[in-house]
Amino acid sequence: MTRFGRPMRRRFLLEPGTAFLNHGSFGTAPRQVLAAADRWRRRMESNPDRFLREILPGALREAAGRLARFLHANEQDLVFVENATSGVNAVLRSLEFRPGDEILATSHTYNAVRQTIRHVCGRSGARLVEAPIVLPVDSKISLEKAIQNKFGKATRLLVLDHISSPTGLIFPVKRLARLAREHGVQVLVDGAHAPGQVDLDIPSLGVDWYTGNCHKWLFAAKGCGFLWARRQAQRGLHPPVISHGYGKGLAAEFDWTGTRDFSSWLAVTDALAFFRELKPSRVRGYNHRLVTESAKRISTAWGTPLDGPVALHGSMMAIRLPESLQRRDPRQLMSEFLARHHIVAAVMPIEGALWARISAQVYNAPEDYKRLLTAASAHIKSRIGKKEGSP
Ligand SMILES: Cc1ncc(COP(=O)(O)O)c(C=O)c1O
Repeated sequence: MTRFGRPMRRRFLLEPGTAFLNHGSFGTAPRQVLAAADRWRRRMESNPDRFLREILPGALREAAGRLARFLHANEQDLVFVENATSGVNAVLRSLEFRPGDEILATSHTYNAVRQTIRHVCGRSGARLVEAPIVLPVDSKISLEKAIQNKFGKATRLLVLDHISSPTGLIFPVKRLARLAREHGVQVLVDGAHAPGQVDLDIPSLGVDWYTGNCHKWLFAAKGCGFLWARRQAQRGLHPPVISHGYGKGLAAEFDWTGTRDFSSWLAVTDALAFFRELKPSRVRGYNHRLVTESAKRISTAWGTPLDGPVALHGSMMAIRLPESLQRRDPRQLMSEFLARHHIVAAVMPIEGALWARISAQVYNAPEDYKRLLTAASAHIKSRIGKKEGSP
């Protein structure tokens, strides 16, 4: 078996010389999964008619079944979608809201999801209510309380991140779903980062809809996400694009939304095989230790806080940037890290402050994070130098 860290890079296409500390944003797929997706693509192009009419329907359900079993779910309750954005859109735009209804989310909700909620609110007269998540978070209880305090008589839907995008904080989905049920509120979970990063048993969470990405932490090729719906929550659920299967049930509606490249969905089986070869608990353990130990070291060097307790994280964590880098443009800072230092790290603006969000994946090693420290020190020195030299 390939050792984790440097030797693992061989199994991916990552460009040599770059420290890739941002698996969280888009993920990167191993060579063997991309090769499997390519085989499906070639098979399709060798006879598109036979493939799309005769082979695809069965192959797609077979792949959905394998993914569903990995998530402890039933094949009939799970469909592929392009990504979590698509899954969230399917649910939000299938629901009917009335003027005055409230959709509860948090201040850490992913912006594309917030925009979709705004769109739905704009059309229905419903209202977005955001539970403020204040950093650093001190415990699971404070995350719970922040949301619990916002349930009201008009709350119809809770949109909950399983793992928050700006920080990597893992939300207590099961407990919050129980609270939501007590208030008669339905729950949509945005699990964009969860599959692969945490051990998932979706039906046991007690939520109505769960969407997730396989192309982030499950090693799938890009464009591979899924949407799971509790049996009773499948009625009236439609994909964002309506096609031939309209009104014929979940699989018929979602499996065909027009001609497209199905290869990343079909190759999910190979992504699962890769993950199993590496051993899921070993991957999660390695990533968690690497990201949390590196984050602690960075936070000590910068004299700034971590986003919350280590126990609330999987493979991502955020550290507040030092004061001298606070007033920078986050995109420009990311570009400079890449161009000058060959480091890919996410810089997140959260509640008026900048945080560095780091990820750990099996191809990372402690040296990658040391490079981030060195790069940040160079920027801090150049800022101080500029200030001292300015009139
Ligand atoms: C919490 C969350 N939701 C949704 C998304 C969107 O994922 P995608 O672009 O694959 O739809 C992201 C992306 O990072 C995310 O962090």
